[in-house]
Amino acid sequence: MRWLDGKADFGWISIILHWTAAAVVVSLLFIGNSIQAADGVARDHTLRLHTTLALGAYALLWARVIWRVAKRHPRPLPRQNKTFYAIGKPFHYLLLAAIVVMLLTGPLMAWSGDLPLRFFNLVIPSPIPADERLFVLARWGHIAAATVLGWGTLVHILAAIKHIAVDKDGAFDKMMTPLERPGDARVD
Ligand code: HEM
Ligand code: HEM
Repeated sequence: MRWLDGKADFGWISIILHWTAAAVVVSLLFIGNSIQAADGVARDHTLRLHTTLALGAYALLWARVIWRVAKRHPRPLPRQNKTFYAIGKPFHYLLLAAIVVMLLTGPLMAWSGDLPLRFFNLVIPSPIPADERLFVLARWGHIAAATVLGWGTLVHILAAIKHIAVDKDGAFDKMMTPLERPGDARVD
């Protein structure tokens, strides 16, 4: 049972953070998109579901981003295509940056726009006065980063399928369990 990342693979902490955060992000994208599609009471319930899940997972999502930035991205496996790795690594950081924008603009948008920021029935009071310009800016940032995350996740999943079906290079297996023999991950 190895918790920490190796030179070219992920330990259990990274793997657990990746999959739990992925489930939360994908759920928040779908629920967030449903807010605008609903109206009246249904809209209010959807908004509360969105903010409840977002606030419930708030620390987890920050931890997930900080962990990767602190531990750095593992190197490629010897079998991994170096060009695709060179594209994939900054792409992963782009996804992480989009998560950070969501975490900052979410509460900012709710508070500046006088929208209820609820965790179940508990309303988190706003520390700032309502501000139309800040709301428009934060909402724009939230929607822009959600768009990057949505399309980015789709490309990311297609890349994962390519690793499994075409490259057969072990990159997907790396995100399922740590390598049994980390020596296998030696670069060069
Ligand atoms: C990765 C995390 C998140 C994702 C993927 C996400 C996604 C979305 C999406 C797609 C929308 C719909 C935007 C639109 O078209 O109007 C939305 C709306 C919203 N989100 Fe998030 N969100 C995240 C985090 C947060 C957080 C942390 C908060 C606050 C704690 C938050 C609060 C809101 C609010 C209040 C709205 C409604 C805006 C409106 O009705 O104009 N979100 N979110
Ligand atoms: C839902 C299906 C998903 C699959 C099948 C998947 C698969 C993978 C795989 C196989 C890797 C390892 C790639 C490598 O090291 O070359 C990886 C890494 C990564 N994935 Fe995903 N992923 C999914 C969802 C997501 C989502 C929703 C996000 C966030 C928006 C995300 C963000 C990342 C990041 C940042 C990395 C780099 C390593 C890390 O920090 O965890 N993934 N993913």
